Amino acid sequence: MRQAGRYLPEFRKIRAENLDFMKLCLNENLSSEITVQPLRRFEIDAAIIFSDILLVPYALGQNVKFKKDYGPMLGNLNTKQIFKTEEKEFIAKLNPVYGAIKKTKEKKELKNKDLIGFVGAPWTILIYMLNKKSPKNEDINPNLKDEKIIDELLKIIIKFLKIHIENQIKNGATIIQIFDSWAGLLDVKNYEKYIYEPTKELVDFTKSKNIPAICFPKGINDYKKYVNIVKPDVISIDYNVDPKKISEDIDIVVQGGLNPNFLLGSKQELEINVKKYLDIFKNKHYIFNLGHGVLPNTNPNMVDYLVKLVKNYS
Ligand code: CP3
Repeated sequence: MRQAGRYLPEFRKIRAENLDFMKLCLNENLSSEITVQPLRRFEIDAAIIFSDILLVPYALGQNVKFKKDYGPMLGNLNTKQIFKTEEKEFIAKLNPVYGAIKKTKEKKELKNKDLIGFVGAPWTILIYMLNKKSPKNEDINPNLKDEKIIDELLKIIIKFLKIHIENQIKNGATIIQIFDSWAGLLDVKNYEKYIYEPTKELVDFTKSKNIPAICFPKGINDYKKYVNIVKPDVISIDYNVDPKKISEDIDIVVQGGLNPNFLLGSKQELEINVKKYLDIFKNKHYIFNLGHGVLPNTNPNMVDYLVKLVKNYS
């Protein structure tokens, strides 16, 4: 997750020359280059395509900008226009992403390695489209009052997320990760309609293409129930989740968990905490990863140290 992040000087250099983040995501050559940068430095096993979950609202006709020290900023929601979006125009807008995936998969750095494509889960995309910026707790549930429009919007979002997944797979993505970053903001009574059902539809779709689906439902209240209903191939956990409980409750592959903050401390403290995850999941199927993105002020040498710790674990 966020391998490229902002902690690599080679990424920062490209970023400084490309102040418009959306344009950078839509630059085939540069996105592909950024995707492989971590693979040149570290002995990691997979790459995640450099893109963003908010390219989908953009391709549906909503304006999307990234503002420094603010985050994403979306334009007004014109539902009439969004409901009219045609598959052809959506794909044409995201064509550079598919081109970047294709180019990346063919690079020598990706030999024998997976390339992870991704989407935001329907709920998280819906929230960004309605809220027009990253939400805070209090922004959320009241927005669901205009239910009819929201139901229609959700349907359109699901339809186009499938199209986005399909085209990433067609161009070389070998895994799909579904990020539900704002799952934790929803009332449990609304899970079925906004989280379980829509996400399951994307997972089923991905699996039908013989591609594994990894789900990251950040802040969900009950992982066991989520896994039983949504049935992803892999469940990705953040650092607030108790790994011990997950290892006892869940039988599918688990990914992630380590707090990225540990990369900012001492090697000794990092080692203790990495070992904690590896020990807990020793007799389980576990993909080591962080519980959220690498922080911008991380020293790349610490990432290297971490990868070596994991690779040398026995
Ligand atoms: O490692 C990678 O670069 C992989 C590509 C990737 C990005 N975003 C690039 C990015 C992935 C997988 C994402 C997912 C994403 N984007 C999520 C889900 C995961 C999560 O973090 O919970 C979400 C919620 C977004 C939306 C988004 N994009 C936000 C809220 C922000 C701004 C906040 C921030 O961290 O500055 C982004 C910007 C973004 N997307 C950056 C990168 C590398 C930082 C851009 C920069 O300023 O250089």
